[in-house]
Amino acid sequence: MNCCGHCRDAGDFFNERTARRELKRYLRRGPEKPTRLLIEAISGEEVTGKTLLDIGGGIGAIQFELFKKDLSHSLNVDASTAYQSVSKEEASNRGVKEKAEYLFGDFTDLASDLPKNDIVTLDKVICCYPDFQKLLQLSLQKCGRVYGLVYPRVNGFTKIGFSLINLWFRIRGSEFRIYLHSPKTVDEIIRENGFQKRSYKTTILWQVVVYERI
Ligand SMILES: C[S@@+](CC[C@H](N)C(=O)[O-])C[C@H]1O[C@@H](n2cnc3c(N)ncnc32)[C@H](O)[C@@H]1O
Repeated sequence: MNCCGHCRDAGDFFNERTARRELKRYLRRGPEKPTRLLIEAISGEEVTGKTLLDIGGGIGAIQFELFKKDLSHSLNVDASTAYQSVSKEEASNRGVKEKAEYLFGDFTDLASDLPKNDIVTLDKVICCYPDFQKLLQLSLQKCGRVYGLVYPRVNGFTKIGFSLINLWFRIRGSEFRIYLHSPKTVDEIIRENGFQKRSYKTTILWQVVVYERI
């Protein structure tokens, strides 16, 4: 990401050490709960032969799980080089390299050149990005059918937790911040773009919402 200090310092946070630790955890225990709930909700519909655009796809847990259900192609657009290289290695190890495409950069800069995909996911991504309206609008335009996102609930735990984490970033001199975006505004933007809510699940911290195009 090259938008500002926030985006520059995101690279320090989503670094190779974190990416390798997340991959190790995924290989041992499978996707973490919110990601698993998102995958289950998406898999409620036939995945065979469909295409996936996973924005901020990280180590690629969603694509790897959906390949097991015969997803035909994935495009993982991420602003972290470390996550992308770790995920690419894993795609090779799994023999899905041909079907798993990667694009490095800020999705909002790249969106205009990208094709529509059947499924679009943003798993814990809008909370890392200040201009969430733009991220939502542009990603919705690239979605043919199913749009899934995981983002923080706004409750006492997340309000205190996010404040403390942002304080920690400030003390370390990092301009990276995490955000609690308004669920009402998020939902309005998605509906205005022609989608209806199909499923809604929560954990203590996260909401997992899947929409489909009307
Ligand atoms: C908290 S991680 C989540 C990774 C993965 N989706 C998961 O749930 O494990 C957020 C990811 O979103 C990426 N990201 C945030 N904003 C982005 C943007 N505008 N364009 C592309 N990637 C973005 C970051 O680089 C990071 O890899």
